[in-house]
Amino acid sequence: MKLIDPYGSELVKDYAKLVQEFGLEPFDPGLFPEPNRLMRRGVVFAGRDLQAIAEAIRKRKKFYALSGIMPTAERIHLGNKQVVENMAYFQQHGGQTFILVADLEAAAARGVPLDEARKRAMEFHIPAYIALGLDPKKTTFYFQSENKEVMHFAYRAAKRITLNEFRAIYGNADPGRIMSAVTQVGDILYPQFSERMPGIVPVGIDQDPHIRLTRDIAARMKEEKFVPPAGLYHKYTPSLDGSIKMSKSRPESCIELPEDPAAVCRKIKKALTGGRDTLEEHRRLGAVIEKDMVFELLKQHLVESDAELQRIYDDYTSGKMTSGELKEIACEKMAAFMQAFSAGLEKARKQAHALRFVRFK
Ligand code: TRP
Repeated sequence: MKLIDPYGSELVKDYAKLVQEFGLEPFDPGLFPEPNRLMRRGVVFAGRDLQAIAEAIRKRKKFYALSGIMPTAERIHLGNKQVVENMAYFQQHGGQTFILVADLEAAAARGVPLDEARKRAMEFHIPAYIALGLDPKKTTFYFQSENKEVMHFAYRAAKRITLNEFRAIYGNADPGRIMSAVTQVGDILYPQFSERMPGIVPVGIDQDPHIRLTRDIAARMKEEKFVPPAGLYHKYTPSLDGSIKMSKSRPESCIELPEDPAAVCRKIKKALTGGRDTLEEHRRLGAVIEKDMVFELLKQHLVESDAELQRIYDDYTSGKMTSGELKEIACEKMAAFMQAFSAGLEKARKQAHALRFVRFK
């Protein structure tokens, strides 16, 4: 069995297999009320303990949603956006929301200095999250490096796991990774330090090892009665050439937020598509939609209406629409998105002074 690697950039080819091998719950869009675009379209594909959260939403009981910002890059890209959209979903459905800046992890994993991480988070990442739909008035923020309670808890968590168990989950056990992982366990349980309640962590599937570790450790601290946290996993946004998950390491295949619409359109024009070699063939056979990265962009990010997406799907797979036409649609929608995002970002930056940060004594 292959391990899920939180530090890799590989694209998952077979999500169904992953669900089976790791004992994940396949995601059923009927589970949550008013499922968002990602949930409806199978981009959110799996989770752990989702019933507990569905019940909390249904019965209007307390629960929380928590996720982390990695300030390793100055900006975010399209692939990072899904976490925010899922966080916003749970916020709108009654969850207390927590966003932490993983500045200690960014320092340990990538050597980003703490003051640089702070600057990036305040000037860009947090305003970007707000521009993408998070309500700042209802979100609690903190920096890992300031959260003494989380750090103290991480030490206790470290005592509940052996090196061999760590290796079995992560495949390797660098000291830096161990430190980051136990810190993340503290992050995920942090909202429960004051009150036990179910919580959900919407993340990319690469973060599942951390959820498993947290659930194991929480279960071992029997006397604490933590509610084991739920996980919600989305598929990766692929890079435009379809080779890896979207990543800045391949700038021509990565769409950053914000980015000049004309530059983005040039990248889209070079994306891997499912269009056929000749027009005649395309009209006759239709597009190979599974390998089309432009359709993937529309599906994951750019088309909100299911009916509209279905029309595009039908036209494209029947050969009525060419991949050039599909790219035009994507460019147009992307330009509108970037414009709205930039405006939202400007507005959110002005609210930065009013954010709710945890104050530590
Ligand atoms: N490890 C996460 C990442 O690489 C960042 C992170 C730290 C996080 N603490 C967290 C994510 C708690 C979710 C919940 O992106």
